[in-house]
Amino acid sequence: MISEGLFKELNSQTNYEFASAHLYLAMQAYCEAQDLPGFSNFFKVQVEEEKFHAMRFFNYINQMNGRVIITSINEPQNEFGSMLELFKETLKHEQEITQRIYNLMNIATEEREHATISFLKWFIDEQVEEETTVTNVIKRLERIGDDPAALYMLDQELAQRTFTPPTTV
Ligand code: FEO
Repeated sequence: MISEGLFKELNSQTNYEFASAHLYLAMQAYCEAQDLPGFSNFFKVQVEEEKFHAMRFFNYINQMNGRVIITSINEPQNEFGSMLELFKETLKHEQEITQRIYNLMNIATEEREHATISFLKWFIDEQVEEETTVTNVIKRLERIGDDPAALYMLDQELAQRTFTPPTTV
């Protein structure tokens, strides 16, 4: 049985995932303003992913007979110094999400809440993937430096990214 405290933390994560979508929407807008449609597409996919994560928590809480409470979202960061800075902020944000998922897993483990442990495992794997994707772009951007042609090529590559939700939710 899920404790009140664990439900509270799951609800908090639901809202945090929506706030992540909000942050990535601001990042998408920044890329649009920089005339980089491929980078914009990268964050468009991020927005979809975060909304999907949020709804996964939303559905799980409901399935377990909890009550979801939607809270307000603060204004996200809208200005960045460069694409490199933008992606470093993204990595920082994803690392924060990973810590939050670990914290949830710690609570679920302490409470021997096996259904929630099983539910959270998907997110543990997902965070490894998320951090790797962002780290790879950071490495590319560090190599690109001030080369506009190389940045354009990366932009074209990122334009190919698509959001494919897993078949099992
Ligand atoms: Fe919901 Fe990007 O982790």
